[in-house]
Amino acid sequence: MALRKIKKDDDPVLRKISKEVKEIDDRILTLLDDMEETMKHSEGVGLAAPQVGVLKRVIVINTDGETIKLINPQIVEQEGRQCGEEACLSVSDKSGMVSRPKRVKVKYLNIKGEEQYIESEDLKARCLCHEIDHLNGILYTDIAEKIYKIVKKGEKTV
Ligand code: CO
Repeated sequence: MALRKIKKDDDPVLRKISKEVKEIDDRILTLLDDMEETMKHSEGVGLAAPQVGVLKRVIVINTDGETIKLINPQIVEQEGRQCGEEACLSVSDKSGMVSRPKRVKVKYLNIKGEEQYIESEDLKARCLCHEIDHLNGILYTDIAEKIYKIVKKGEKTV
């Protein structure tokens, strides 16, 4: 496993649409391993491939101590709304209030290529929506109701 460099802010790769994975080969598996390591190293709860400059539809999340690797994730059901604070490893010195579904059901392929479903709510649902948005070139700052600027660590202004 290796750390990958996280693309930030105005990097155009963050605005592109990622491509569906057709074959789960060693490159994809290595990418997922590297993304897991990079996410943990950066103390993030999720990471999408375009954030490391690869335009493939793969994400990793870890909101509860367990890493899940999702290939070609797709929201198939959603319910309710929640509004909460989000930040992103690719967006410097900001956080924002974002409205998301309260619950989502996501269909994806695991690393063996098996079709899986994950049902989640609250933070995990938020994280899945945030990461899937990355695959479509969308950043949370595009849809936030309010953006905070972090002046110093822990200090925010609107
Ligand atoms: Co992000």
